[in-house]
Amino acid sequence: MEQQLLISDLATDTLKGLSSNPKYLHSKYFYDDAGTIIFQDIMRMKEYYLTDCELEIFSEQKDDLLKALNNDGNHFNLVELGSGDGLKTKLLLSYFFNKDANFQYSPIDISQKANNELAESLNSEIPGLQVTPKTGDYFHELQKINSNDGTPKVIFFLGSNIGNFSLEETHDFLRHLSNYTNQEDKVLIGFDLKKSPDVILKAYNDPHGHTRRFTFNLLHRLNKELGADFDPQNFIHHCTYNPESGTLKSYLVATKEHKVRIEALEQVFHFGKWESIFMETSRKFDFDFIDQLAAEHGFQPVKNFTDKRGYFVDSLWEKR
Ligand code: AVI
Repeated sequence: MEQQLLISDLATDTLKGLSSNPKYLHSKYFYDDAGTIIFQDIMRMKEYYLTDCELEIFSEQKDDLLKALNNDGNHFNLVELGSGDGLKTKLLLSYFFNKDANFQYSPIDISQKANNELAESLNSEIPGLQVTPKTGDYFHELQKINSNDGTPKVIFFLGSNIGNFSLEETHDFLRHLSNYTNQEDKVLIGFDLKKSPDVILKAYNDPHGHTRRFTFNLLHRLNKELGADFDPQNFIHHCTYNPESGTLKSYLVATKEHKVRIEALEQVFHFGKWESIFMETSRKFDFDFIDQLAAEHGFQPVKNFTDKRGYFVDSLWEKR
């Protein structure tokens, strides 16, 4: 087999990111097994308000959500992109099921393990619910679902996962979503809203150090999987929030000049003192921008479900 074929996406993207000026790494690689566990620690801390807000919306507005989604009692397919452990969605699933809503649930996740565990837990927690998990790329699976039959879809993309995309990726994502939905299909997207910079910075610069561990975990992953020799002691974690653009950005910053060798890339990367690696964007949104995104991609905003503090919104759109 040719050498090229052995190079993983992780290796290719790492080479690209660390050869750029300024340097960057892609946050989609945060989620190996260790990263997924650290992210659960993040979701459990009170400073990380996003999870609590969406849980509050789902538990207090489940009836309004059902009214908005139930397709006049006709059958619909509730598709979730990036379902993970389905913690928040389960709350709605069991409510909808107990209210005799006429639906099936199709979680789509890249992880077979997550899908198996979710299907198993739903089997015992909501016996009788029709669950058809799909493992793979969101849009590859969505395309298959879309061309399968004429069942109307409600597509969930929760947790402000959309905030981790660059602007270009956000538009690409919505373009795909628009291509794989039909008229009157609905989408429910979770957006973290602009708010006091103090609240936002505390969620990402948390006193427990979970976010710091989460970010550093990518260096450990590169050491393990690509034979890199990153010394985490040579970096500090730094977050900034720009209230104008709504972007929270996180960086690792080198505290001294040093070199890092990455075996799998057969390359040495030089770090100057105080040179940064851009690690992640977590965009915060406002309602005008959300409406603009919907309109640009052929959706009609139907209803916004916000938490009591006005920190977070699950925005419901319908395909025009
Ligand atoms: C998954 N995503 C929405 C999280 C966020 O808030 O941007 C990832 C995260 N990064 C640091 N803390 C949480």
